[in-house]
Amino acid sequence: MKDGGCRVGSIYSLSTEGDVVVSEQQVRDQWGTRLGFVLAAIGSAVGLGNIWRFSYMAYSNGGGAFLIPYLFALFTAGIPLMILEFALGHKLRGSAPLAFARLGRRWEWLGWWPVVLSFILVVYYMVIIAWSFNYLIFSFTQPWGQEPAGFFINDFLRLTGSPWDFGSFRWPIVATIIGIWVLNFVIIYSGIEKGIERANKIFMPLLAVLVIIITVRGLTLPGALSGLNYYLQPDFSALLDARVWVAAYGQIFFTLSLGFGAMIIYSSYLPEKSDLVNNAFITSLTNCSFSFLVGMGVFGILGYMAEAQQMPFEQVVDKSIMLAFAVFPKAINTLPTFNVFFGILFFGSLVLAGISSSVSLVETVAGALMDKFNLSRPAAVTGTSLFAMILSLGFAFGNSLMVLDIVDHFINNYGIAVTGLLECIVLGWFFRLDEFKEYVNRISDFSVGSWWIWSIKIITPFVLGIMSIQNLLGDLSHAYGDYPVSALLVLGVLVVLVSIAAALALTTRPWRENWLLKPTGSEE
Ligand code: ALA
Repeated sequence: MKDGGCRVGSIYSLSTEGDVVVSEQQVRDQWGTRLGFVLAAIGSAVGLGNIWRFSYMAYSNGGGAFLIPYLFALFTAGIPLMILEFALGHKLRGSAPLAFARLGRRWEWLGWWPVVLSFILVVYYMVIIAWSFNYLIFSFTQPWGQEPAGFFINDFLRLTGSPWDFGSFRWPIVATIIGIWVLNFVIIYSGIEKGIERANKIFMPLLAVLVIIITVRGLTLPGALSGLNYYLQPDFSALLDARVWVAAYGQIFFTLSLGFGAMIIYSSYLPEKSDLVNNAFITSLTNCSFSFLVGMGVFGILGYMAEAQQMPFEQVVDKSIMLAFAVFPKAINTLPTFNVFFGILFFGSLVLAGISSSVSLVETVAGALMDKFNLSRPAAVTGTSLFAMILSLGFAFGNSLMVLDIVDHFINNYGIAVTGLLECIVLGWFFRLDEFKEYVNRISDFSVGSWWIWSIKIITPFVLGIMSIQNLLGDLSHAYGDYPVSALLVLGVLVVLVSIAAALALTTRPWRENWLLKPTGSEE
């Protein structure tokens, strides 16, 4: 039933006493179509990480052999956790805080923590999308010249020597940060069906076309095969290294947007009869195939570049931000034809992939505020976007790259990975996971079996636990990135502690009366 763009959901029942109490009707936005939901979930998953992280990770962790731990992580952690997050949002009809609060007030903080982390993440994620947009414009004139790395560091960012040295305010970056935030705002403000769904229905097919063109071009350049060789030649001895397995789990986790709260809120907007298992498989497999495909294009182009410049492959390849803003512009310089066009394709892909993910992060925050504080969508989206945009502008100074690197390291390793770990432990060991399994199987075409229970209860917490300990030991033995310890403590440790404090503070606020009653149909 439509109600002014929203739909009226279930009538609540008082579960503890068994009798149905008509208390309040939940008015919740809803996806218009199943395809819309799947594209939005894929949009959340496919992000910057797919374009610059996966291929380098495969290359440096055993090449083709990396696919074994990667696929293992996908089936034992990625897909099971995605099914669990879909089930949580759908069964309890809420954002992460509401879903956890409906399970029990004492778990509510576990819903707020990922929401606060998503907020921090989107503040700097947006800055990288803004840089990509600057570079999209640069593609027309290629001002990076023959030394793109120097251009990026010295001319574009005007990078200072320390995270505490702010340097100058970069107005061209300010302009794109504001522009990207406005676009993001308009999409979310317009609602689930008319905004997020519609945007993803345009962005995702367009992104697929851009990436296919980049890949086909990459693979048909001379020297591409040698690049592919570096990307995919299996080194099976890497499989004996525990770090390679942990890296695969870390990548799966980030790339599927798990532990962010995003998949929980997206599934809360699904209609009652929704095939959660199939949706989780489609989202995860599409995301991972996309990463693999982009990797072929990127390594094909790098292979060509190494050959054209007669340089060893190891010297042309780089990871993440430098791959995008230093190596790729250089590759664009070296292309025989259509240089401008390929610059636009590459940076356009980064912008599209980035925005479809940032939209899900902002919706995670705004949706949680709507649930808890009874805010309207315009109020929640405007407030969240404005506050986050002002913080993003703090990244327009000359220390941005260093601050971003530190915050990202700590938020990922001690925030998102730990929320995923806690999610598995709490739902796997403190609740009857069987009930979630029965719920999922009742509404899905394919049933999940005991592998799902095993993955959530044992395998994922085990690997995420090892990963967290390994990260902690690494950081204790060596200052991350050789940054000053004061910067690591303030921008890393303090930011994580503040995120926990904020989650606890938000938990103390009361809910609307009867708001925590479980939706009908969520009981077994
Ligand atoms: N899943 C998103 C990415 O890979 C956040 O960038």
